[in-house]
Amino acid sequence: FYVFFHLFYSFISVALTMHNLTYRFGDDWKKLLELPPKDNRMKTSDVTSTKGNEFEDYCLKRELLMGIFEMGWEKPSPIQEESIPIALSGRDILARAKNGTGKSGAYLIPLLERIDLKKDHIQAIVMVPTRELALQMSQISIQLSKHLGGVKVMATTGGTNLRDDILRLDEIVHVVVATPGRILDLIKKGVAKVDQTQMMVMDEADKLLSQDFVALIEDIISFLPKNRQILLYSATFPISVQKFMSKHLQKPYEINLMEELTLKGITQYYAYVTERQKVHCLNTLFSRLQINQSIIFCNSTQRVELLAKKITQLGYSCFYIHAKMMQEYRNRVFHDFRNGLCRNLVCTDLFTRGIDIQAVNVVINFDFPKNAETYLHRIGRSGRFGHLGLAINLITSDDRYNLKTIEDQLITDIKPIPSSIDKSLYVAEFHSVDPDEDGDEGGAKNKDLGAA
Ligand SMILES: *[C@@H]1O[C@H](CO)[C@@H](O)[C@H](O)[C@H]1NC(C)=O
Ligand SMILES: *[C@@H]1O[C@H](CO)[C@@H](O)[C@H](O)[C@H]1NC(C)=O
Ligand SMILES: *[C@@H]1O[C@H](CO)[C@@H](O)[C@H](O)[C@H]1NC(C)=O
Ligand SMILES: *[C@@H]1O[C@H](CO)[C@@H](O)[C@H](O)[C@H]1NC(C)=O
Repeated sequence: FYVFFHLFYSFISVALTMHNLTYRFGDDWKKLLELPPKDNRMKTSDVTSTKGNEFEDYCLKRELLMGIFEMGWEKPSPIQEESIPIALSGRDILARAKNGTGKSGAYLIPLLERIDLKKDHIQAIVMVPTRELALQMSQISIQLSKHLGGVKVMATTGGTNLRDDILRLDEIVHVVVATPGRILDLIKKGVAKVDQTQMMVMDEADKLLSQDFVALIEDIISFLPKNRQILLYSATFPISVQKFMSKHLQKPYEINLMEELTLKGITQYYAYVTERQKVHCLNTLFSRLQINQSIIFCNSTQRVELLAKKITQLGYSCFYIHAKMMQEYRNRVFHDFRNGLCRNLVCTDLFTRGIDIQAVNVVINFDFPKNAETYLHRIGRSGRFGHLGLAINLITSDDRYNLKTIEDQLITDIKPIPSSIDKSLYVAEFHSVDPDEDGDEGGAKNKDLGAA
């Protein structure tokens, strides 16, 4: 009986252990994740035309996967699918990718995966052109590595106390996110030791390799070991980047996800008007469309100011910026607009490059541009992270010819505006949004914000 009991007991305990093992190796850990609310907005192929990979396909550490999922990243974006496996293999990468396509994850995930916690030295440097970007990237690294137990990330940039950085480097640091000047300073002082740093990432490399920085970057690289890995991400490929590539990268794996122009996801309409009908037409648009934020383009400083005044008189909130305003003031307006203090921004073309404000879902060409490049830069922006947007062009008889030319040059279709526009083309749908708020009252809500 005793033997029997003993066997039985062993059986139970083995079963229990097995159960625990199953628990540990199954998928149940996912239930413990603190996931952010789901982003259910429609996305375009900039972010969805993937091969269908899963983050779990890359044999990443469980703890890193937890960080990834808790960032709300569900599946790798195209740039991540291309970058992660190659970067994990140790090969150099030269990638052309624009903002908002998951670029940071594309390098931070393999970077963090490859950190060896048993080693105390700096193992990776992420080089960025601005202080803001450095802080943003170190923040993301910290969040991603939350469960990795002790990956030490440090941001170091100009404009902060050098002594603090020196003291910080007395302790363990695995990853440094830096602007070029400060890190070079620390390396030269012998405070930041990078002779065993096997990985360097350059984000916005076109800026890092501009006149201002390129000498610093070359200097920094001279302190790295010969067999280091370099990952280079850049939206454009000027000569400076090409030169750098042939000098410092070894048979880089090239990724180019930017062949396509950024009109995808943006529905384009035109409305035939006379010059005198433009404001009336704009008013109608405001009352009919569900605008979250809009940018309205005019062709001159004077017209920007006049239109901004009219829009305010009509009772809609509105900011304006143009080239004749002080840069500092322009930055403030832009900053406030980005923070949603106002729904509409009237501006000239100066505002067209490198802007991505997620909340902008409608762009209006109050004055139609003269060439295709300007057109593309004006309306290309509302597609950030592939989200949808609407572009509406007010066309006078003078613009007819340009309309046709631009359509042809961009191989795109600008349709006459229909009497009602399908909201799914440009209105973000969150599941968490109260259905009552989805009513047809864009205009009314627009007015509620008051005129600025
Ligand atoms: C199973 O795990 C729980 C906690 O997760 C532990 O208390 C228990 O002792 C474990 N059982 C066995 C048989 O290892
Ligand atoms: C701007 O547009 C207005 C109205 O279409 C036109 O009268 C004016 O000549 C244009 N100005 C420039 C600089 O293109
Ligand atoms: C709408 O705009 C506000 C700021 O004006 C922004 O906070 C919010 O995220 C935007 N919503 C969407 C769905 O883009
Ligand atoms: C990407 O974003 C940065 C700021 O985060 C900005 O300076 C840069 O111009 C943007 N680049 C493009 C191509 O939009």
